[in-house]
Amino acid sequence: MATPTPSKKVILSGIQPTNNLHLGNYLGAVKNWVKLQKDFHCYYMAVDLHAYTVRQDPAQLRDNTYQAIAIYIAAGLDLDHCMLFVQSHVPQHSQLAWLLNCNGYMGELSRMTQFKDKSSKAGANIPVGLFTYPLLMAADILLYDTHLVPVGDDQKQHVELTRDVAQRMNGLYGDDTFVVPEPYIAPVAARVMDLLNPTSKMSKSAVNPNGSIFLTDTPAEIDKKFKRAETDSGKDIVHDRQNKPGVSNLIDIQSALTGETIAAIEARYVGKMYGHLKMETAEIVKKELEPIQKRTQELLADKSELDRILKNGAEKAIAKAEVTLRRLHERIGFIMP
Ligand code: TRP
Repeated sequence: MATPTPSKKVILSGIQPTNNLHLGNYLGAVKNWVKLQKDFHCYYMAVDLHAYTVRQDPAQLRDNTYQAIAIYIAAGLDLDHCMLFVQSHVPQHSQLAWLLNCNGYMGELSRMTQFKDKSSKAGANIPVGLFTYPLLMAADILLYDTHLVPVGDDQKQHVELTRDVAQRMNGLYGDDTFVVPEPYIAPVAARVMDLLNPTSKMSKSAVNPNGSIFLTDTPAEIDKKFKRAETDSGKDIVHDRQNKPGVSNLIDIQSALTGETIAAIEARYVGKMYGHLKMETAEIVKKELEPIQKRTQELLADKSELDRILKNGAEKAIAKAEVTLRRLHERIGFIMP
């Protein structure tokens, strides 16, 4: 039986431990995760199995994974209130992914825009994992009877696919086999744009790293990047995403960090220059990141403590995931060990 709806809904999300996390990941995901942990039962992961759909340097993957986990904790994830773990520590993700591979269709996976996009860049040999990637994500979600999945626009299609496969399998094995999840769009979803190219999202794989503020950037680097940020023609500091994407992005960043409204920020900048906006945005970002960076370094200095935290997270995740997997095995007709 699926666990009865608990008093709190279940939220689950993951970030790939590739490259450095940037301000867009922080404001769009991590900071939001911290807010959600009070009202929901939360599972958060570093999705290293997903990262492996693209070749990774082993030492770098290891560092990035520790770093991602340290940053989540430093940013305020409370380990008494949420489950934090690394995807590969919970073998049930791979196991369920196989079963979902036998229920997802070539046609529907071929329609995933992320697959089309990534496979067109992969050259002649496209790894099969890139194609089945959304079914691994579906496994992440379905293992924990997840109700809500906080994701950005680019991942909504994968949550829709998860719903389709879950409903298909519920039709075969009973309605209480899987909880059918929904995408969760945060009320104030902060969408941070590239500083040099403010009509594109800040991205880990941007051509020019000066367009991204990495959570590991020093204060001097942060100052430099904001100083060089692309602003728009004219000189009024007003929020207008169409005509002033650069200025709007800086205002959005301030608003997401301080909670100040767009109108209040605009009012503060009447008669001021772009330079003021850039400098002050840099100050606000540095003030937010400084304590997080300090705590991240402390955590990274003690890997055995991080290992202990992750072991604990994995144990709890495994206990839940195993229940879901056994339920399905039994219904499929596998002999139970
Ligand atoms: N595919 C997501 C991304 O690239 C990461 C991810 C993996 C995820 N599993 C997930 C997100 C489960 C939400 C829920 O952003």
